[in-house]
Amino acid sequence: MIFKPPPIPSSEITPEQVYRQRRRLIAGSGLAMAGWLLNPGRMIPAARAEEPGDRWNTRELDYQPASAEGQKRGYYTPEKLTPYRDVTHYNNFYEFGTSKSDPSQHAWRMKTDPWSVTISGEVARPGTYTLEDLLRGQQLEERIYRLRCVEAWSMVIPWVGFELGSLLRRFEPTSKARYVQFTTLYDPDQMPGQRSFFSTIDWPYQEGLRMDEAMHPLTLMVVGLYGRTVPPPNGAPLRLIVPWKYGFKSIKSIVRIHLSENRSLTSWEKAAGHEYGFYANVNPKVDHPRWSQATERRLPSGLFSVQRIPTRMFNGYAEQVADLYTGMDLRRFY
Ligand code: MTE
Repeated sequence: MIFKPPPIPSSEITPEQVYRQRRRLIAGSGLAMAGWLLNPGRMIPAARAEEPGDRWNTRELDYQPASAEGQKRGYYTPEKLTPYRDVTHYNNFYEFGTSKSDPSQHAWRMKTDPWSVTISGEVARPGTYTLEDLLRGQQLEERIYRLRCVEAWSMVIPWVGFELGSLLRRFEPTSKARYVQFTTLYDPDQMPGQRSFFSTIDWPYQEGLRMDEAMHPLTLMVVGLYGRTVPPPNGAPLRLIVPWKYGFKSIKSIVRIHLSENRSLTSWEKAAGHEYGFYANVNPKVDHPRWSQATERRLPSGLFSVQRIPTRMFNGYAEQVADLYTGMDLRRFY
């Protein structure tokens, strides 16, 4: 008799398993476009809202899967993915506490629907737009990026989103727009970290980019990961991902995007500007004042299985972004 493993009940399938199964189907079809044309969502049995690995009620997204052809442009890395569990349970989201497990424990409180984002400053069409407005007409795509935290750990994550540049163009930036500033939701009732007396951050969390960095095709507005909507610990329902910069630039749960001629200080510059600069480009040659940035710990890693790997200039995206910084002293503009 041939042993056949019992089928996994759909109630026990985690988003990661579903995602891997879907990617196998797509790869197996032999057609690069197949996943998109067939609508990956429809290839998997329905009934998944109640996944236990996914107690945040994430929803499946319809998107164009990353393909190996995107590798040259930096859209896709074939490195081993960090499991869904680690991506969603080892987080920095200080609004919910400073320990890595706080966001997965507390962020479910955050109400993310309805959600709106205010676009202000140097644009021809300012206003407050619902998330649905922002997503209208956007082709969602998958990007498999490395994420390198300034604390020297890293992950490989399959994000789903769209280019920030395509969003900004819709609001018609004026010729004065030189910087983009992002702001996270401020709601101490929902976010215990914002009520803490010991917080180092002057809430709300704010980050910024130079306009050319914001318009770069690698800069992504993220609405999903592992094929489903972003879970709260990772910054639901809308966050930024700038893969060549330290993770703190990739601000979560965005409610405001402001374009301006002059730039204002970011939260981390205000908290400790000598340690966390505005540029925050991943750079193995410029150490943090308190630790080396030459290597990183690729997650998951346990006590006996630490994966220490060399950190790459611009987190491995130098070919795509180095020319944004031609002539700049990256030690001074850290
Ligand atoms: N955004 C907000 N609003 N609050 C935060 O504390 N932490 C940053 C960034 N975005 C943070 C944030 C840091 S330090 C990192 S490394 C990444 O989010 C982590 O993203 P992840 O938890 O999805 O891996």
